[in-house]
Amino acid sequence: DKAGHKHFMAKEIAEQPAVIAQALGHYVTSDGQINLPKPDIDFTAIDRLTMVACGTAYYACLTAKYWFEQIARIPVEVDVASEFRYREPPIPARSAALFVSQSGETADTLAALRYCAGKSDTILSVINVPESSIARESDLVLPIHAGVEVGVASTKAFTCQLTVLFLLVLRAAQDRGEIDADTLAQHLSDLRDLPNIVSTALGANAEMHQAAIKLAEARDVLFLGRGLMYPLALEGALKLKEISYIHAEAYAAGELKHGPIALIDKHVPVVVMAPRDALFEKTVSNMQEVMARKGRVILVSDATGIAEFGQEAFATIEMPQVSSVLTPILYAIPAQLLAYHTAVAKGTDVDQPRNLAKSVTVE
Ligand code: M6R
Repeated sequence: DKAGHKHFMAKEIAEQPAVIAQALGHYVTSDGQINLPKPDIDFTAIDRLTMVACGTAYYACLTAKYWFEQIARIPVEVDVASEFRYREPPIPARSAALFVSQSGETADTLAALRYCAGKSDTILSVINVPESSIARESDLVLPIHAGVEVGVASTKAFTCQLTVLFLLVLRAAQDRGEIDADTLAQHLSDLRDLPNIVSTALGANAEMHQAAIKLAEARDVLFLGRGLMYPLALEGALKLKEISYIHAEAYAAGELKHGPIALIDKHVPVVVMAPRDALFEKTVSNMQEVMARKGRVILVSDATGIAEFGQEAFATIEMPQVSSVLTPILYAIPAQLLAYHTAVAKGTDVDQPRNLAKSVTVE
């Protein structure tokens, strides 16, 4: 049932405020405690975390690496499952392995998990389907409570993965004495506000629709982001490729001059994900490099960022204000909607894109 939407993907994008709230409700108590399922994991006993996944779930892991390292001060290694499993890396003592999968059945992710079993101290998984193979073979399972996801392009599972991973980071920071009570309370309060902020972002639909009409004409599109926006840029490019069949690449903005800038001309739209945060100025100089070569910048930012730089951009998409650590969850909305509207403009099969399966259970 598409609940009045044209596609399952549109329905699942629209459900995000509700499912994020649902995920939070499962893990945060009314008195502000983070309540994880049993068995309890002791983050003071862990010196290193390995995170493994495929596709969009891998980008959720990349985002969580920034959070784990900055907030909980745990070194994190992230890898795609198909590389990790055949590389057979040494697993250090006092380490945990964390697998992220919507379906819980992805063959490479499951094989990576089996490789770690007996070597890592703890196997954790963040999954959407609780009765899945990955869940069954984990010591600690964190369901994301996103509800059934039908669209092949993952949307609500991604933002719920991020929400649950962020809570895990806060819990790790708490265990390790890396966060004080006030900061923790502030993060939890920001999370409580998030479903409403995501609803507001969904309202920027008209701007995204306009930008998508431009994207639909392009043969190649670049996505740029720094810090927490880098994994999100990767996710935006994957979404666009999957459902619109437009060639899209993402780069860390600082990498632009190390090669991809050679691609820029007036035919290449460049989507820049850049909230007005500590890295904004740096990203602005990358946008100027793009524009000096007649590249067309579509800037996704907040009111302050757009006031500072929007004039010069080809198009802008305004996001509401949110605490900087939570920008990946909020900016997932324009990443998804840009791809969605572009695909609709091109008339592709949004829910069943060619060559793709919802669950990749073969290698
Ligand atoms: O079920 P999983 O989360 O393990 O699936 C992983 C990838 O196959 C999946 O995220 C894929 O990249 C999606 N089609 C992305 O939209």
